[in-house]
Amino acid sequence: MRTVYVNGDYLPETEARISIFDRGFLMADGVYEVTSVLDGKLIDFAGHLARLERSLNELDMKKPAAFDDLLEIHRELVRLNGIADGLVYLQVTRGSDGDRDFVFPDAATTEPTLVLFTQSKPGLADNPAAKKGIRIISIDDIRWGRRDIKTVQLLYPSMGKMMAKKAGCDDAWMVEDGHVTEGTSNNAYIVKGGRIITRHLSNDILHGITRAAVLRFAREAQMEVEERAFTVEEAKSADEAFVTSASAFVMPVVEIDGVPLGTGAPGRVATRLREIYLDESRKAAV
Ligand code: PDD
Repeated sequence: MRTVYVNGDYLPETEARISIFDRGFLMADGVYEVTSVLDGKLIDFAGHLARLERSLNELDMKKPAAFDDLLEIHRELVRLNGIADGLVYLQVTRGSDGDRDFVFPDAATTEPTLVLFTQSKPGLADNPAAKKGIRIISIDDIRWGRRDIKTVQLLYPSMGKMMAKKAGCDDAWMVEDGHVTEGTSNNAYIVKGGRIITRHLSNDILHGITRAAVLRFAREAQMEVEERAFTVEEAKSADEAFVTSASAFVMPVVEIDGVPLGTGAPGRVATRLREIYLDESRKAAV
């Protein structure tokens, strides 16, 4: 059985308890991070911690008391659960003052709730999907306006994955005012004439930690990067496409709304970036 972390305690997952009045449960008043683990080590940990701090600040949520111990807590959970390859999920909510109220509870007396758990994913970096590429559909982006904050409001992304599944595809890209924002749980890219094009950072998308690393490696490898919005039509006529996230790393996209891209197989740029990202981030893992 898994050992999980709840507010200072390491417990068997069946013994972990959270109040039914927790604002994460009642109001999606919480933020999260997902950090991947390869060979027992954490990938891009500093980036995830920095984004967590930013998400908390943007929502005026106080830091959990154990904030400075988060690296140790991640490592201890990886050790206790014998994770070689997998993920660590972390969630902070505004906690509960024992009732339901739209008004935030007094931060001086109400502690945030901190939960972490691991997911074992043997062979995470050798996902066979990376060799075949994934097929995506486009859907309307009807999410709220602060997608840069990594909140636990994941109902629409979850519905988007179901729409993709129903269409016989793997994932969905969300579209607003004719332009792709991002994938349901990843950042979106196209490649045209060797140029990598991905939406610029704003409140409209999550500022992916994998995105930041991949763009840095791409520039270091002398690849051209253009940070701007692109349309679905432009994507359909691209040479290749891919997505990035902590759990998928760099994942080639081979079809958009039924239109195959390039040769219909994973592209050279996506394949190369996946190799570079995995190599470099393994070297920097903690
Ligand atoms: N999702 N955009 C969205 C909407 C996301 O949910 C994610 C991550 C990303 C990629 O961010 P990063 O590279 O920091 O993982 C972009 C995580 C993996 C999840 O919800 O499981």
